[in-house]
Amino acid sequence: MTVNLVIGTQWGDEGKGKIVDYFAKDVDYVVRFQGGNNAGHTIKVGNRIYKLHIIPSGVLQGKTGVIGNGVVIDPEVLINEINNLRKHGIKPRLLISDRANIIMPYHKILDGAEEQSLGDRKIGTTKRGIGPCYSDKIARRGIRAIDLIKREILSKKLGLILPLKQRILDAYEIDIKLDKKEILEKYSNLGEQLKKFITSTHIILNKAIKMGKNILLEGAQGTMLDIDYGTYPYTTSSHTIAGGSSIGTGIGPQNIDNIIGVMKAYTTRVGEGPMPTELSNKEGEHLKQKGYEFGTTTSRPRRCGWLDLVVVKHACTISGINKLAVTKLDVLNGLKKIKICTHYLLNNKKIDYFPASLEELEKCKPVYREFNGWNKIDKNLDSFSDLPDEAQKYLGFIEKEIGIPIKIVSIGPERKETIEI
Ligand code: GDP
Ligand code: IMO
Ligand code: MG
Repeated sequence: MTVNLVIGTQWGDEGKGKIVDYFAKDVDYVVRFQGGNNAGHTIKVGNRIYKLHIIPSGVLQGKTGVIGNGVVIDPEVLINEINNLRKHGIKPRLLISDRANIIMPYHKILDGAEEQSLGDRKIGTTKRGIGPCYSDKIARRGIRAIDLIKREILSKKLGLILPLKQRILDAYEIDIKLDKKEILEKYSNLGEQLKKFITSTHIILNKAIKMGKNILLEGAQGTMLDIDYGTYPYTTSSHTIAGGSSIGTGIGPQNIDNIIGVMKAYTTRVGEGPMPTELSNKEGEHLKQKGYEFGTTTSRPRRCGWLDLVVVKHACTISGINKLAVTKLDVLNGLKKIKICTHYLLNNKKIDYFPASLEELEKCKPVYREFNGWNKIDKNLDSFSDLPDEAQKYLGFIEKEIGIPIKIVSIGPERKETIEI
């Protein structure tokens, strides 16, 4: 029995989907534990590209996908995603936690309204209703998957919640009337379609562990978007770090064997908020174009910069990461010089931690180590020692600085473009 966890060490889009798909071949269950359809995981299998937002990436390997209690689910998006996969001949085996919270129409409206009211202090959310849904969960007025399949309970809950939401919409001067009958009809119907998947997933997963099955936990977003440890308030609204996987699945932390941190060979970020190593020069443009750095969910261009090891070390510490998977090494091909940020200078003092205060962070200047680049990486190579010497040096430095072994190097989007060390 092995339970492995895959999480992002940066600002999301590290290539978690590809790495999960790679490991999924050896497991029974692949489990999402936080976030919602703000995530966008792109997986390339042969000539086909799949973009998954809410269904765990492991379903592409024919494994059972579990949507854990920590996830927020937009049922309409989920049903569309299931239907889309079916069109491509994949009939996903799914289980949905009865305790997962549901993204309701008012959450999506409020996500937009809150962003607009922030003006130039906006977060740059994906506007999928994620923040408002998690806010309601914590305020104990959420609708959960189990409520969707019990019409009377859903009706009662909507009766309590909708007048409250209507007052907020009115305060924002949004000309929308929340119609209880219409929402009840629509969401009962969506619940009916999802009923067969909704169950107590924590019981199934814990039984599976006892039976010696293999489980892969699939993180969404990244450490710097974590609600506590990220660049708050420029974060998402869930726990993206290793601790979140236990809360969001009901699997006790002692059962997790490996925590695999996915690290892009450089840094990207979508949305607003600080990013110390951001580049607005031709090297930044190289990373954006060669890495095709455009959001999977919103198509926004991703901000690009050099690898920031202060960020990755922060991620490794708070999540207890014991293995690293480095992705998109090939995107650095053709750069003459490549830089890695090892520290920040704050008021002329070297620091190696990520400050909590955004004001302090704004004053931080990255300190770089420079490396020679390489021309090309052969797509068909399958061993670390076949990588160009300069690439081996680049990875060797990262491994030594962080003190955690690199076990996977990804040199292209396809399954087979993966080196296991
Ligand atoms: P995720 O959100 O962490 O799953 O990452 P995304 O799927 O949003 O973004 C990663 C993008 O990079 C996707 O388009 C992947 O197909 C692609 N990708 C993953 N690994 C590699 C790699 O090693 N090289 C290249 N060139 N692309 C990769
Ligand atoms: P994956 O799983 C990158 C960012 C948004 C915004 C902030 C808050 O593909 O790595 P939200 O809609 O969550 O309230 O937005 O978080 N964000 C992501 N950035 N990858 C993601 O997911 C993201 N999910 C949310 O751009 O800055
Ligand atoms: Mg993504």
